[in-house]
Amino acid sequence: MLKKYLIAPGPTPVPEKVLLEMAKPVIHHRTSEFEAVFAEVADGLKKVFNTKQDVLMLAGSGTAAMEAAVINTLNPGDTVLVINAGKFGQRWRDICKTFDINVSTIDMDWGCSVKPAQVEEFLISYPETKAVLLQGSETSTTAYHPVEEIAKLIKPKDDTLFIVDGITSIGVHETKFDEWGIDIAVTGSQKAFMLPPGLSFICLSEKAWKFVEESTIPRYYLDLRKEKIAQAKATTAYTPTLSLINGLKVVLDMFFEEGLENVYIRHAVNGEATRAALQAHGFKLLAEAPSNAATGFYLPESIDGGKFVKFMREQIGVTYAGGQDHLKGKIMRISHLGYHDTFDTITGISALEMGLVKFGYDLELGKGVAAAQKILKDYIG
Ligand SMILES: Cc1ncc(COP(=O)(O)O)c(C=O)c1O
Repeated sequence: MLKKYLIAPGPTPVPEKVLLEMAKPVIHHRTSEFEAVFAEVADGLKKVFNTKQDVLMLAGSGTAAMEAAVINTLNPGDTVLVINAGKFGQRWRDICKTFDINVSTIDMDWGCSVKPAQVEEFLISYPETKAVLLQGSETSTTAYHPVEEIAKLIKPKDDTLFIVDGITSIGVHETKFDEWGIDIAVTGSQKAFMLPPGLSFICLSEKAWKFVEESTIPRYYLDLRKEKIAQAKATTAYTPTLSLINGLKVVLDMFFEEGLENVYIRHAVNGEATRAALQAHGFKLLAEAPSNAATGFYLPESIDGGKFVKFMREQIGVTYAGGQDHLKGKIMRISHLGYHDTFDTITGISALEMGLVKFGYDLELGKGVAAAQKILKDYIG
């Protein structure tokens, strides 16, 4: 038997009770029964985003919500600033370029987080900038970016939007959409929301809705104006991802039962324990300001990261994530995201140690596990 463990930053494991809820027979969506679920879930999402605005649900993975953010608020010829600090920063750039938006970038070394002053200086030089697009947590580098500080910089600017990809930060790091002054935040189901992929969320500020009125980019399925009208009536414009939304109701119940504050603490503690375990072995972390979603670290030079991640998945049963682009083969990423608790961290670290030894790397077994246990022992119980 090879029992499988999913310790990659998305898709993340789905709790049993969520799976069971989603296994129930599908009901028709234009019914009061489904509308009651929809209304409850819509209300719960506002609490996670800390907003009075509607959080719209879209059928599609996180990238659908990213594209919706761009095509509903911007125009060809607009100038935007993209923080290009990894694979998903590049995605913002590519989406904008697809729609003939002029993209300026602040290019960061992978693992570095943008400084608010860099954004401030850019906006002083280019006050016509229509939007600043950022990842809250850049999953490819496992770095967290200063969302709050940048939001506060942009909040007073009526002609500039702050658009945040919160795909691995919302539900991991507390995000105060209204108070901080974020204009658009997006996220997806298969990360902190502990669901299978296929559902994404998008929230717009009043300022962003004004931009929607002026945007001329053609759109049909991802037209947020239609979704806003439909979702105000507790339904979606087109057939919703019924089973995922039913599952989401259970996920939100779990969040509120645990307490959102405790959800963030759980991610923080498991992140800290993972980092301590890796550092106990002398492994260098990739991110200077680490995200609590996942931890990236440099593998020893003698290890081919691509082969090692495949070996761990296929022979040992543990799925981590490798590196992307120029970090392919060099780094590995261990998740502590979503349905992940103390003993998932211990499993991930223990399996890593045993796997490295089996792969021919000499390390002291249990050293990382012990470092993680020292942190986690105060957290359990
Ligand atoms: C930060 C970030 N942005 C965007 C995406 C893309 O989301 P999706 O694969 O759900 O389209 C991901 C997925 O890993 C991500 O982690």
